[in-house]
This record gives sequence, C-alpha cells and structure tokens, in this order.
Amino acid sequence: MVASLLTNLPGTRDILPEEVSSWHLVEDAARGIFSRYGFQEIRPPLLEATELFARGIGGETDIVGKEMYTFQDQGGKSVSLRPEATASTVRAYLQHSMHREAGLSRLYYIGPMFRHEKKQKGRWRQFYQIGAEALGSEHPAIEAEVIEMTLFFLESLEVQSQLLINSVGDGKCRPQYIELLRQNLRRHQAELCEDCRQRAETNTLRVLDCKVATCQPIINALPKIADHLCEECAQHFEQVKSYLQAAGISYEIVPRLVRGLDYYVKTAFEIVSAELGAQNALVGGGRYDGLAEVLGGPRVPGFGFAMGLDRLVMILPESVRARGKHPPELYLVYLGEAALSKALLIARSLRHKGFACHLEFAGGSLKSQMRLANRVGARTVLFIGEDELARDRYIIKRMEDSTQQEVSLEELEAFLRMQRP
Ligand code: HAM
Repeated sequence: MVASLLTNLPGTRDILPEEVSSWHLVEDAARGIFSRYGFQEIRPPLLEATELFARGIGGETDIVGKEMYTFQDQGGKSVSLRPEATASTVRAYLQHSMHREAGLSRLYYIGPMFRHEKKQKGRWRQFYQIGAEALGSEHPAIEAEVIEMTLFFLESLEVQSQLLINSVGDGKCRPQYIELLRQNLRRHQAELCEDCRQRAETNTLRVLDCKVATCQPIINALPKIADHLCEECAQHFEQVKSYLQAAGISYEIVPRLVRGLDYYVKTAFEIVSAELGAQNALVGGGRYDGLAEVLGGPRVPGFGFAMGLDRLVMILPESVRARGKHPPELYLVYLGEAALSKALLIARSLRHKGFACHLEFAGGSLKSQMRLANRVGARTVLFIGEDELARDRYIIKRMEDSTQQEVSLEELEAFLRMQRP
C-alpha cells in the first residue's frame, strides 16, 4: 500500500533536474525562434469543458472516444484534461475577440497534455507539446512559413528530421472520397483487422493509418485522396508545394497521411525522425479552417502544429544537451568554522554580482569537499583555510586543467569573468 504512494502513475514521470536543463534549452530555443516569426505565447488552462474537445477534435476519434481523462467536477459539469491545445487556443482566440484585431494571430504554447494511451517507448499519458497556431489566413504561404519555422527550430537543435505532407481535402471533396473508400473496404471486410473493420464504417480515413501487416496490401490498393481533391483543394496543395520549394524545403508526399483529429482540411503534415523508433512522429499539424465554426464562432482559417517535447528531448544530441548545462562557476572549499563564515560572505557577494557559487555545509576533509566539487561539475574551486583567512588571499584551482594560482577577492572576480564561455 505504502509502496504505491512512492511510485508515480503509469505513463507519467518525473523529469529530474539533470534532464530539465535540456527541456529549458529546447523551450528557450522555441521562444527565441518563434518570436522572430511573430508568434506570441498563450497559456490556456489544462482543464476545459469536455464538449470543447468532443466537438473540436471529433467524437469518433481515438483521442476523444478512448483516451481523454474526463470526470465530473463538484458542480456536476463534465470536464477533461486537455489532450491537445489547438481547440483550447481557438476557444481562447474567439473568447478574447482576437478575430476582431487586424492581421493574423500567431500564438504558441508550451505545456502538458493528457491522453490515456497504451504505454510504449516515446508515448506517455502526460506528455508535453510545443505548439503554434496561425489564425486568420487561408493563404498557402502561411503553411510554408510555419513549416519552415519548425524545421529551422529543429535544425538549430541539430535534430535530423523528414517532412511528410498530404492534402486531406475539405467538406466539398472529402465526403465523396470517404464513400469511395468505404465501398472499397466493404469488398475486403473479411480480410481486414478488427479495428479496420470498425473504422471502415465510423472513422474511415483512419483505416489508412493501420499498421497491421495483413491490411497493408488492401490499403495500398485503395484510391488515393490526391486523385479525388476538388479544384480548390488541389490548387491549394499545389501552391503549398511551390512555396515550400521556393523556401528550399524538401518534402515527401505521403498519400496515406491523414492524422487522428477530425478538424483537418487541405494540408496535413508530419515531421518524423528515424531516431525515434516506432513512435516516430515528432511533429503533427495541418490546416483547420472549420474548427472555429464547429466551436460556435465565425469562420476563421487556421494552420498549426504541435511537437512532442518528450520525444524531442529524447533524441537531442549530446553536444546540444551540453549547451543547456550550467554548472557552478565556483565551488568554495573551507576548513573550519571561521573559514565557513568567510566562504558564506564571499559566496553571497559573488552571487549578488551574478556568479553561480556552490558550497556544502557538511564540512569534511579537503578530499571529500573536492569530490563534491567534481560531482557538481564546478569550473573553479576556491580554498579557504586558516592561512588564506589570515592573509585574505586565496588559492583557486581551475578544474579543467588543474592549474592553481593565488588571488585576492578582486582578482577572483576578474578570473571568474574571464572563465565564462
Ligand atoms: P498530434 O499528432 O496528436 O497533434 O500530436 C502532436 C505531437 O505530439 C506528436 O507528433 C507527438 O510528437 C506528440 N505526442 C502525441 N501523443 C503523445 C504521447 N502520448 N506521448 C508523447 N508524445 C505525444 C496534435 O496534438 C494537434 N493539436 C497538432 C496541431 C496543432 N494541429 C494543428 N495545430
């Protein structure tokens, strides 16, 4: 009984201090780069009315039908932990009348999402996304701009990835295509896996997503949506591709890419990484011109994406992770009570001047304190013994090459400044 209190829930995890530095690095990079493209941060709540997701994402989707953390609050209202943040962002955009402002609204968010999925590598029940939504433009150039920003962000973190795109049509052409798929699938009902048999009737497009080996020959032979787009969608897709080409972005067209949320129209895309294994999707996104209306607002075209932050941190190269680590600039080693008092004064003064200083209170031998200095990765160590106290001059050791020198406190400050990368 007690043991279970000392264990987190399955699918959740503690992100420990040594890993958090990589998370900060990634979040800071996103904030820096996204703001250059005019995106501003928004922080919607984690808890929303269940209906927002049911309508926005679609009642037949796995996310809404099977994976949401839904409960009744004390007032008897059905609420859900957000499984994604596009619906919330559009809700906030409408609620705060951002659609009345001139120009595009470019919004981004960073935070936890919740889906009760089957646990596997790269998949958590509480996971984190960095997402961006551009609201208010039908222009295909926004697709290219947002995708370019995402790839630039990933490149800045030295993450190798591949862009996959497709068009999923819209309310005019998709229903006919779905009907065509359904007719085809009915002919193969006996050969399909159980999930596909059910999806063929309820959420037909998702059949294209099936990974079961025996379904593959049937799915590969199905008609492709690209051959059944209406004139408007086909033209839009052509323009998106030409804007991507103009930006020098290479992509692969994947006719089976349909995504698991109902709000998408026209462009859908994913960015995958071979380093991720089975759950290889790093980024998922697309256009959702009808979402605002579905939520009861005016028509607001939108395009955006979300990236799995957990997955991104998982594949961050070691050299990039190192950029996020900020070990103490100075570790203070002291011998005796008087030396401790002096160490505290020095540390306080240096910290107020902006230096990261570390000391422990267990005291102990020189050797044991040096061991701790090594463990925290301190760049420089300052020794304070009786002799140093008396002369007000101190020995410092540069840990990188073990060189030592004697310094005054003013010289120490200048030395630390010089050591900064
Ligand atoms: P999504 O494809 O459901 O799209 O999720 C986007 C990304 O979140 C995925 O590619 C993956 O990296 C990450 N992700 C999803 N589920 C999990 C999980 N259980 N564990 C770890 N990572 C996960 C959306 O959420 C849309 N709202 C994206 C969007 C924004 N479309 C337009 N705007």
